[in-house]
Amino acid sequence: MLRVIAIDGPAASGKSSTGSLVARELGWAHLDSGALYRAVTLAALDRFEDMPNTIVPTSQILALLDELRVRLVLVGDEFRPEIAGVDVEHAIRDDRVTRHVSTIAALPEVRAWVNAQQRHNAGDQARGVVVDGRDIGTVVFPDAPLKIYLTAMPDERAKRRLSQRGRTVDDAEVRRESAALAARDEADSSRPVAPLKPAPDAVVLDSTTRTLAQQVAQVVQLARRVFPD
Ligand code: DC
Repeated sequence: MLRVIAIDGPAASGKSSTGSLVARELGWAHLDSGALYRAVTLAALDRFEDMPNTIVPTSQILALLDELRVRLVLVGDEFRPEIAGVDVEHAIRDDRVTRHVSTIAALPEVRAWVNAQQRHNAGDQARGVVVDGRDIGTVVFPDAPLKIYLTAMPDERAKRRLSQRGRTVDDAEVRRESAALAARDEADSSRPVAPLKPAPDAVVLDSTTRTLAQQVAQVVQLARRVFPD
């Protein structure tokens, strides 16, 4: 049986925090596929400085990924993004990357490249992998025996994102962040290739009124049922 747990959902729904803690609890690895889309975006923005204004051929982006050996590397239980041998887990969270990542993630050839990396990384893990993203249960691992679709109300997601960044959580900031998240969700849900949506057999969990610990416990409980050994 394929030892993959797929966790999909909109931006800031808690996929990565949940995925990471579930993996730790089960002794599995955790792969955040968004980190790879972000690493691709960071590499492209740094190389093609005028990219937001001019269209860069996808073939040049793919060549750059090879040249810079953009990839995920397993460190302990976590796959971490690397560009040219340098860990970029921190740099990929920059606002500049966040603003442009949906555009890059809409390119079919980039998606095919990212999917191949993920399948390769996960294939190396005999113990099992928790993979989170937008299309893990629908496209990347449609045979995953456990699929979770995580949601939360937009304002709650905005508050969590702001406090994660150590920013003030006042009403105006929450409204602004909520609007930015909504715009990214709209871009990710309306693209023709692999749009964000729950797989038909996904368990839908709404975390608006639940703590991270409660959410993790629920996914672990489901996992122990689906993967008894
Ligand atoms: O989870 P995140 O916010 O770090 O993801 C960054 C972007 O990458 C997100 O806006 C959409 C894209 N993404 C995707 O299209 N498919 C995935 N499996 C994961 C992320």
